[in-house]
Amino acid sequence: ALVSMTQLLEKAQKEHYAVGAFNCNNMEIVQAIVAAAEAENAPVIIQASQGAIKYAGIEYITALTKVAASNANVPIALHLDHGTSFAQVMQCARNGFSSVMIDGSKLPLEDNIALTNKVIEAVRPLGLSVEAELGKIGGTEDDITVSEREALFTDPAEAKHFVQATQVDALAIAIGTAHGQYIGIPKLDFERLTKIREQISTPIVLHGSSGVPDDALREAISRGVCKVNIDTNIREAFVRAARAVLEGNAKEIDPRKMLGPAREAATAIIREKIRVFGSNGKA
Ligand code: G3H
Ligand code: 13P
Ligand code: ZN
Repeated sequence: ALVSMTQLLEKAQKEHYAVGAFNCNNMEIVQAIVAAAEAENAPVIIQASQGAIKYAGIEYITALTKVAASNANVPIALHLDHGTSFAQVMQCARNGFSSVMIDGSKLPLEDNIALTNKVIEAVRPLGLSVEAELGKIGGTEDDITVSEREALFTDPAEAKHFVQATQVDALAIAIGTAHGQYIGIPKLDFERLTKIREQISTPIVLHGSSGVPDDALREAISRGVCKVNIDTNIREAFVRAARAVLEGNAKEIDPRKMLGPAREAATAIIREKIRVFGSNGKA
């Protein structure tokens, strides 16, 4: 059965590792995430963005994940990634998600708090966990300077206020990561992370973690991050493998010949990340 994210993150925080949260879009990626978690005996979070839900349909996402989880020996949470509305969160709750993110990071602070609290009040009695975001993570395509980006980083004092005002289960912070492929090598503000950790005991989430060097991921985890989000690395591995098949045989018409190797490549990169996060053997 699907489990709430809270229990996974509490254990991770206590034992100083991070749980991988991997984005899915289709059956092969759901299978890859679960196969990797099983091979590494690791707890895992399967997450779906609004885009993923729009592409696959919410019923397919939940059904695929439930089938995968019912055959698995590792704990699995199904989490809404970057939910932006109350209605969408409720739809996920109704369809069997065990966890949601409500991303009010674009709102003024007090509005972000109010929206987060509205979601917590509605879904916590149903047993779901709630992640919120403070600071703006953004994408690598955002055309802003380093100092402009730093102005969007999470403020430690604000983080303290936010978690006191919401009692949220997990908090996504902005310390220099971005969604998508990086142009250079991202530089993380580790001192800020430590200052945030000193202010809050809430599990901290790192978004935009594809392309962050493994050492930097380990450093972030050692300073208190206990959920690490990965999407782009899976997309890269999946499409690279599918493309190699097609390029190697222009006459290939069997989708399984393309998607099978793509699924294997996704499994391999997810296993690698699980070992970097230290969640292997923690199921
Ligand atoms: O947070 C962003 C995730 O990588 C999901 O991206 O909205 O293209 O599905 P997406
Ligand atoms: P990446 O695609 O950069 O790994 O980011 C994933 C993420 O943060 C999903 O919320
Ligand atoms: Zn994200």
